[in-house]
Amino acid sequence: MRTDYCGKLNKANLDQEVTLCGWVHRRRDHGGLIFIDLRDVSGLVQIVFDPERSGEVHKVGHSLRPEAVLKVEGTVAPRPAETVNPNMDTGEIEVNVTAIEVYNISETPPFSVEDRTDIDENLRLKYRYIDLRRDDMAANLKLRHRVSRRVREFLDNGGFTEVETPVLTKSTPEGARDFLVPSRLQPKKFYALPQSPQLFKQLLMVSGLDRYYQFAHAFRDEDLRADRQPEHTQVDMEMSFMTAAEIMGMLEDLMFDLFEDVLGAKLQTPFPVLTHEEAMLRYGSDKPDLRFGLPIVDVSHIFHGAEFAVFSRALSDGGAIRAIRAPGAAVFTRRQIDELTDFALSHGAKGLAYLIIREQLEVQSPIANFLSTDELYSVLATTSAEEGDIIFFVADTVKVAVDVLGALRPRLATDLNLVEEGWSFLWVTDFPMFKLDEDSGQIVAEHHPFTLPNDDTIGHLDDEPLKVRGSLYDLVLNGVEIASGGLRIHKPELQRRILAILGHEDHQMESDFGFLLEALKYGAPPHGGLAFGLDRLVMLMAGLASIRDVIAFPKTQSGGCPLTGAPATVSQRQLKELKLRQ
Ligand code: AMO
Ligand code: AMP
Repeated sequence: MRTDYCGKLNKANLDQEVTLCGWVHRRRDHGGLIFIDLRDVSGLVQIVFDPERSGEVHKVGHSLRPEAVLKVEGTVAPRPAETVNPNMDTGEIEVNVTAIEVYNISETPPFSVEDRTDIDENLRLKYRYIDLRRDDMAANLKLRHRVSRRVREFLDNGGFTEVETPVLTKSTPEGARDFLVPSRLQPKKFYALPQSPQLFKQLLMVSGLDRYYQFAHAFRDEDLRADRQPEHTQVDMEMSFMTAAEIMGMLEDLMFDLFEDVLGAKLQTPFPVLTHEEAMLRYGSDKPDLRFGLPIVDVSHIFHGAEFAVFSRALSDGGAIRAIRAPGAAVFTRRQIDELTDFALSHGAKGLAYLIIREQLEVQSPIANFLSTDELYSVLATTSAEEGDIIFFVADTVKVAVDVLGALRPRLATDLNLVEEGWSFLWVTDFPMFKLDEDSGQIVAEHHPFTLPNDDTIGHLDDEPLKVRGSLYDLVLNGVEIASGGLRIHKPELQRRILAILGHEDHQMESDFGFLLEALKYGAPPHGGLAFGLDRLVMLMAGLASIRDVIAFPKTQSGGCPLTGAPATVSQRQLKELKLRQ
């Protein structure tokens, strides 16, 4: 239908006859002349309707409204010097229209395609096809495509085979609720949609496939947040005969290649590594953002036998005192400090003590009177505080203290403008194998029940399972967990022991995971892998705050799709067929 794309025309095309197709983006009338910015996938070009040259065509041009779909023929001409638009790729030329065909008209769209300002997200999702006409949304989809393509290339070159695993399957526990699909052929039985392809990829290793990957859809019925959808895409991988360090190195090479190719950014490798324990103690998070410092410092030793009862009591109760030095925070108003205190209380602290360091290290604080000069100087020395800083303290159990200060860290960093530009990757390793589920009191898997325990701690499996660490690694980028994986158990006896610790009775183990236990008996190789969240990675690469902006058709907070109306009620007939209704 066309000879050229709108956004690709330039001075090299001068005097050419071209045929273009696209949408009316914007229209201006100037003393009889009509100027339209015609938009297609490649961008915009100005087309001109001149009444002197073509009366009939001009008449059609006059009737056009935004978002009408056209084909135009015309001649590429230079723009008069005073109308050259340096902000437009095609700003030096325009197309004088000689013929036009209108393929379709458009009702006034519910929001303008030009607008980048706040549009209600529900409205955007309801009219997603219009939302995706907007430059920035179209760019996000293209970025996602470039990322996917490069990742595939990298993995193909690395000897990986892409395999699709079933979507109608059996529950694979990843810590969320399952989405269930009733079976018609086997009434009262249900498939579960995969929370991840975890067990199939392990079975592929038993098959000898050696290196597998898949752009897998994973389905998890959990509460949604900015970086969580009920359905997300993971780039899922599994490898045989590789150590954890080798698998982590492979993902680093992939990230290096990807960021260089797609963003022209040169990442620093190897990425830094913290154990889970170090990350929790130093940053109060298992996915700390290291674009800023603000480490949590242990100051407990300074306050044994302190006069300040809040501190000495916390210590005598077996707790700790942890502090963060906030550089330059002395400019905070009283109100800002009160807000930070409320924030700390809402995260479980009993209070947020602080010292403001004024000129010549003079200390201003509601608790200054309770602290001795020695204590004050020790605090200043331990935290390396300087004039203009504030030191914040939480006295509590170690867990509460680091949790609260861990939550305060990013907030302080934002308030104090300490977040540096860049790509801050971090490995967090050696997560605990198990954790205690606070509601049920049950031991549950920290990652999933197929993780290989660390050699160093496996001895505690029977006596103190909560002390056992898994061969696990998460990759964090700018404070967001983007990938997660580990080495897996490849011996059936150990897999049974772990499932037993997680409370599975023998018969339940057989019915839930019998097929895995069976497969592990037939020469399963040592293996491991990981999955990275494609939505989250592309969100960060695009500099966005929500994964919804990099997913073509995402769900709302309540799991709905305003465009199609899913989830929806179904007919009585369907329910009867499924034997869910009499
Ligand atoms: P995990 O559960 O950590 O690991 O998931 C892997 C990665 O997927 C992304 N992710 C999500 N993204 C958007 N919305 C969600 N609801 C969501 N949940 C997870 C995260 C996460 O790091 N089978 C294991 C992987 C393995 O061990 O190989 C698994 O699924 O970026
Ligand atoms: P209070 O004696 O309760 O008035 O507390 C004096 C100061 O210590 C206030 O600034 C409180 O916010 C702070 N504070 C109280 N309890 C704690 C705690 N557990 N950890 C840190 N600061 C606290």
